Amino acid sequence: MSTDPANGTSDAESPSIDIGAIRKDFPILDQQQDGKRLVFLDSAGSSQRPRQVIEAMNELYYHDYANVHRGVYQLAERATSRYEQARHTVARFVNAASPDEIVFTKNATEALNLVAGSWGRANLGDGDAIVLSLLEHHANIVPWHMLAAEKGFEIRWIPITGDGQLDLTDLDRLLDGAKLCGVTAMSNVTGALTDLDHVVASAKAAGALVAVDACQSVPHLPTDLQAMGADFVAFSGHKMLGPSGIGVLWGRRELLDAMPPFLGGGGMILNVTTDGFVPDGVPAKFEAGTPPIAEAVGLAAAVEYLEGVGMEAIRRHEVELTAYALRKLTDDLGDALTIHGPAEPAARGGVLSIALEDVHAHDVSQILDTDAVCIRPGHHCAKPLMKELGVPATARASFYLYNDVDDVDALSSALVKARDFFAL
Ligand code: ALA
Repeated sequence: MSTDPANGTSDAESPSIDIGAIRKDFPILDQQQDGKRLVFLDSAGSSQRPRQVIEAMNELYYHDYANVHRGVYQLAERATSRYEQARHTVARFVNAASPDEIVFTKNATEALNLVAGSWGRANLGDGDAIVLSLLEHHANIVPWHMLAAEKGFEIRWIPITGDGQLDLTDLDRLLDGAKLCGVTAMSNVTGALTDLDHVVASAKAAGALVAVDACQSVPHLPTDLQAMGADFVAFSGHKMLGPSGIGVLWGRRELLDAMPPFLGGGGMILNVTTDGFVPDGVPAKFEAGTPPIAEAVGLAAAVEYLEGVGMEAIRRHEVELTAYALRKLTDDLGDALTIHGPAEPAARGGVLSIALEDVHAHDVSQILDTDAVCIRPGHHCAKPLMKELGVPATARASFYLYNDVDDVDALSSALVKARDFFAL
């Protein structure tokens, strides 16, 4: 049972989270912009981090920092121990079978590039096929395009439904003969949650591996990698209250063992001669160079914070807030507003991509900034999805554990002002 760092109560005892107490842990949220309360609604881009994370990193730098897996002096041993403890903490959080299956990378993009550049380069060739979805972030598209240009394999695409979810009706045909299926667990644009049980079962039946971009799901939903049954899962630290500069690749041990290194350098070898090298075992084989040491410690502190609040409680809060936002925005803005993605809050995460008539998303976002409401405009690194939605960009508001109905109300009022400004 977890304990809430903000209010000291457990998940089971506390059906809702104490936003007031949580917000006190996030100093950055306690500020005004042009005399207005800052309303931060861009956690899908990058979350904010609590003082516990900042202090854990500071404390490492003040007392325990040295390079890891190199020095034999006590300070270096302490730093190594903190770094490896962080790997254990992350493994526990996502229920990996072993900490050795957790590879620390620079970000989730590097984690997905590792899958393509190592597993893909070793296993895909002319005549092969992989399946991706039209919901993917560029991080789960471009590495495969780059490799396909070199290796000549085919990329097939899972289409989407009218409400921005994956259309899995033809999945078995798409997977026929495919070696890998790459899907997002939750769209960073429509918020749609992928039916991973369906995807994994179909992929296994077809003999394909599954690589999941879980950047938007791991921060917001309970994650059990052993139950999920995928083969690779990538996520990033900065979207889950941790620092930027660290991502995670989880891979099945037997796959990681068989894969060649991705980057070469210090820390990933058993031996190097003028003739060649012998790689180390996992996870060191995939962590060339000085790794993100303080970032790993910060990520572990973020995980402990999330565990303290409870992932079930965070998910419940975000479903309730999303349901409120869908009602409020529709009531206040009516036909002037389109909200992409599933209408049912339980089918989505707290990500609302909106269109205010034909006003450009950048203009909407700039107007909202005058009310200190921070949302992200743009294609969200999902250009194939933008093409499907028939828009160049969306204005995206995204929620996390520190957002509440006041934030939604501020968003709605600012959008009403924008609508009136553009005289829609
Ligand atoms: N991938 C991040 C986003 O969706 C940056 O905004």
